[in-house]
Amino acid sequence: MNITQTPEWQALLQDQQRLEHTHLRDLFANDAQRFQRFSAELDGLLIDYSKQRVDAEAVRHLLSLARLANVEEWRDRMFAGEKINFSEDRAVLHTALRHMEFSPFPSAELDVMPQVRAVRKQMRDIVERVRSGLWRGFKGDAIQNVVNIGIGGSDLGPKLASRALSAYQHPHLNFFYVSNLDSAHLAPLLEKLDPRTTLFIVASKTFTTQETSINAQTARTWLMAAAMEEWAIAKHFIAVTSSPDKAHEFGIPDENILQIWDWVGGRYSLWSAVGLSVALSIGMNAFERMLQGAQTMDSHFREAPLEKNLPVLMALISIWNTNFLGAETTAILPYNESIRHLPAFLQQLEMESNGKTVSRDGEPLSCRANPIVWGEIGVNGQHAFFQLLHQGGWLIPCDFVVAASSDHPLPGHQAPLLANCLAQSAALAFGKTEQQAREELSQAGLSEAQLARLLPHKVFAGNQPSTTILMPGLDPFQLGMLIALYEHKVFVQGVIWSINSFDQWGVELGKQLANRLLPAILGDQAFDAQLDASTSGLIAYFRRHGHV
Ligand code: F6P
Repeated sequence: MNITQTPEWQALLQDQQRLEHTHLRDLFANDAQRFQRFSAELDGLLIDYSKQRVDAEAVRHLLSLARLANVEEWRDRMFAGEKINFSEDRAVLHTALRHMEFSPFPSAELDVMPQVRAVRKQMRDIVERVRSGLWRGFKGDAIQNVVNIGIGGSDLGPKLASRALSAYQHPHLNFFYVSNLDSAHLAPLLEKLDPRTTLFIVASKTFTTQETSINAQTARTWLMAAAMEEWAIAKHFIAVTSSPDKAHEFGIPDENILQIWDWVGGRYSLWSAVGLSVALSIGMNAFERMLQGAQTMDSHFREAPLEKNLPVLMALISIWNTNFLGAETTAILPYNESIRHLPAFLQQLEMESNGKTVSRDGEPLSCRANPIVWGEIGVNGQHAFFQLLHQGGWLIPCDFVVAASSDHPLPGHQAPLLANCLAQSAALAFGKTEQQAREELSQAGLSEAQLARLLPHKVFAGNQPSTTILMPGLDPFQLGMLIALYEHKVFVQGVIWSINSFDQWGVELGKQLANRLLPAILGDQAFDAQLDASTSGLIAYFRRHGHV
């Protein structure tokens, strides 16, 4: 089915035309109930999408589009454990990782829960031993530093969650996340760490990812330089992987290998043992509260009618902005310092999942899919790129994300933080009319000539759409709900765009080329004649200037 040729899509195009000259100011002025109508709450997590440029009819047509695309059917197929990731012949069952009941999941026939529970138990055991000081290093010291070595989904999710929940962090443990191949990431860290008290988690689903392998080898060499004995690896290295054999070859003993499965996508793996660093930081009970939060969102996604379904509504709003209003990017603006990694996490989640132009049937998509996702801590952005959001003339939908209470409170901070967050979304939506700007300037006593000169610069067009997501506080449960909300949002969008959201073939070509270019950078001239002129020129520069 070409979704853009359907009556539902055509109705939405008409909505877009009908609303084209309707400002958010008008939408609010004409509907006193707009907030109630276009906001929804689940267990404390509030989504206000009233500042999106939709009306009831457009939302109704968006919901029809979701029905037409069989969102409910695809959702049920995912939860049933069908191999909906057909290009990798895999089921998509990260939701099993947060299934907290004693019942089978996804079904009695396919039940994956015995394996999931066994690894949760293994995690709990490690977490308790490390946090209580029972886990000892090669000289008998308790662990003080935990270094997660991983990249992509094996880095971004745990880094986001452990920072987001830093208020719950064990007081005597420090956490570090190393992903970059550049030794400037690992080297300064190793300089300050003590091998006797450092535990490395090598998180890699495949255990073949170049960045992670090289960082892990360097960490291993560093440890061996101090410990001198191979048995020390068992005291300082844990692997999380779906390739236990490869972890074993690295020297990690079976009891330190935590398994993940092919039905857990890398960017959906936080809930698995890839989240071990988070569990070490906040404790296994709190980690399971995070899983419960995600499970609450799963149940809501499965059971709530589409018109009240938070991930569905978020997905539809994004589709409206992308496909009907023409937005090319979307900004993620967390206001809490602790969720500063949310934009980076969502960049992978959204763009690796739906950054595609080919449908499940192998046909070119008939419309544009995922917008470019970017973002930064909101208040920092206010003093940097918000100028462009307000007056740059681009349509850039924003997600404002903030917790009502601070997780690290100090007197006098939280109310101004919240005021800034709300002020920005209001300013973006409603702007400042020429009339308002004129009144302000004349009240400031400007002459008519001065006023005329300044007036164009003081006008804010407004009408910039945003969604505000509020949580009571940054706790494990709320964070679990928030992340699962975005996961399901991405899934729904993928279904509507007819995309397989769970593969990522687009990352392969660069990996292959990097492997081919490595010998050339190291000086091997055998393939020089085959290189394109640009790559050849750049390699010549490296040979002249690089110390590799
Ligand atoms: O290159 C992309 C990717 O495969 C991501 O999908 C994944 O999260 C990341 O690399 C890391 O992969 P791994 O966990 O296998 O090291």
